[in-house]
Amino acid sequence: MDLQPATLQISLPRRELAYIVSLLFLLISSAFVFGLLSPPGPGSFVRSGFLSRVLPKPSARGTCDYSRGRWVRDEDRPLRFYNESCPFLDPGFRCRENGRRDGGYVKWRWQPDGCELPRFNASKLLEWTRDGRIVFAGDSIGRNQWESLVCMLSQAASKSAIYEANGNPITKHKGYLSMRFQEYNLTVEYYRAPFLVMVGRPPPNSPSLVRSTVRVDELHWYSKNWEGADVLIFNAGHWWNEDKIVKANSYFQEKGSVNLTMDVMEAFRRSLQTWKTWALSNLDLQRSHVFFRGYSPVHYRNGTWSENGTCNSNKEPETDYTKLEAEPLYNLYISNTVGKMKDRNRKVQYLDITFLSEFRIDGHPSEHREPGTPADAPQDCSHWCLPGVPDTWNELLYAHLLSVRFHEM
Ligand SMILES: *[C@@H]1O[C@H](CO)[C@@H](O)[C@H](O)[C@H]1NC(C)=O
Ligand SMILES: *[C@@H]1O[C@H](CO)[C@@H](O)[C@H](O)[C@H]1NC(C)=O
Ligand SMILES: *[C@@H]1O[C@H](CO)[C@@H](O)[C@H](O)[C@H]1NC(C)=O
Ligand SMILES: *[C@@H]1O[C@H](CO)[C@@H](O)[C@H](O)[C@H]1NC(C)=O
Ligand SMILES: *[C@@H]1O[C@H](CO)[C@@H](O)[C@H](O)[C@H]1NC(C)=O
Ligand SMILES: *[C@@H]1O[C@H](CO)[C@@H](O)[C@H](O)[C@H]1NC(C)=O
Repeated sequence: MDLQPATLQISLPRRELAYIVSLLFLLISSAFVFGLLSPPGPGSFVRSGFLSRVLPKPSARGTCDYSRGRWVRDEDRPLRFYNESCPFLDPGFRCRENGRRDGGYVKWRWQPDGCELPRFNASKLLEWTRDGRIVFAGDSIGRNQWESLVCMLSQAASKSAIYEANGNPITKHKGYLSMRFQEYNLTVEYYRAPFLVMVGRPPPNSPSLVRSTVRVDELHWYSKNWEGADVLIFNAGHWWNEDKIVKANSYFQEKGSVNLTMDVMEAFRRSLQTWKTWALSNLDLQRSHVFFRGYSPVHYRNGTWSENGTCNSNKEPETDYTKLEAEPLYNLYISNTVGKMKDRNRKVQYLDITFLSEFRIDGHPSEHREPGTPADAPQDCSHWCLPGVPDTWNELLYAHLLSVRFHEM
């Protein structure tokens, strides 16, 4: 990078340099003090775990931290992106079609601090992945991102040469969908595996209250199909919560027996170990590019999803940093796991999208859910309208692939 202070030092006399340095120090420290003192409201320090990360971090070896930045209004973005006429969007994400009238939510682009996000080029990504496979595995937010990528790629291919390999419609009711881009001999696949590990019947002689078990030491049987893919994008988190597990009378299982007391986060941590062990022995990490996406934030306000919580009053991204939730523990576990897998030859990356998505309370379907949803159903403040926020996750994915010279492999 050519903006480093080192270039200043050469041309400046010592005293002026000292002056500039102390001025800079003052500026930075006062910005810091103001930044920390301004947020109003009790408890905001504790809640704003992100605050400490707001100041741009020095980038390592000229690479850019795409995960820090801000949303910038961009009137032209809709013209450059796909729209709801993309035939590969499922009904739940078509917010305009479902009655959403404010269109501003598609007019924001993510501006990282101190660098530019490379412009997504569908024909390039299609070319790089020719004869290959891109695999998404995880929960329905993974499908959200998968549909986004399919539509982003479809802009540079003829729509009639893109089809679901088994002729299945794109709906949330399918556990596995594979879009074939015939001109490129490429498939972009989605596997529904919300826990990534196996869920199934409890072992014989389990207590009768146990209806099903989440086997933290056994990866989902779909994983057989993930092997050999060129790019893999994993996600998990939303299902690893007490609510979903307790409601299903589900418990955790390890080494063939039910553990009635295992805590959800401990179980999540163990499942990530299982995932890591599987990835290290079943994926060729020198060839395949593996991403584990960070947690996708939910934005229920004035109540949780089951308490009539809503997210339809914001028509623009949040600008008040103090309203951002603290970084979820899931991310810490995921980034630690991925961090431990890294080495010079392994192409594994934590895709950090939580912070940027935190601002986008305006990006959810809210009450504009798929046709047929009962009027009194909870709002959807978990998934994202498409086009929308997951497009930016895919722009980050693209940027990472570009930065590791994926195209030269
Ligand atoms: C949606 O995109 C298609 C091209 O992909 C374009 O022909 C159409 O005019 C667009 N529709 C709107 C409403 O912008
Ligand atoms: C995408 O890349 C191709 C070359 O692979 C280039 O011809 C084209 O102009 C690029 N498109 C955009 C929108 O940058
Ligand atoms: C399509 O790609 C697969 C690898 O995924 C390869 O085995 C096959 O030969 C390719 N087909 C054509 C027609 O190039
Ligand atoms: C259940 O899991 C916890 C960890 O959350 C562990 O400490 C405990 O020993 C396990 N119990 C059994 C019976 O394996
Ligand atoms: C929460 O409820 C209050 C009072 O009913 C209302 O003023 C506010 O706009 C609501 N907030 C959101 C985010 O819906
Ligand atoms: C949600 O709203 C319905 C009416 O729309 C009401 O009957 C119910 O008590 C509310 N639930 C909660 C938890 O506030």
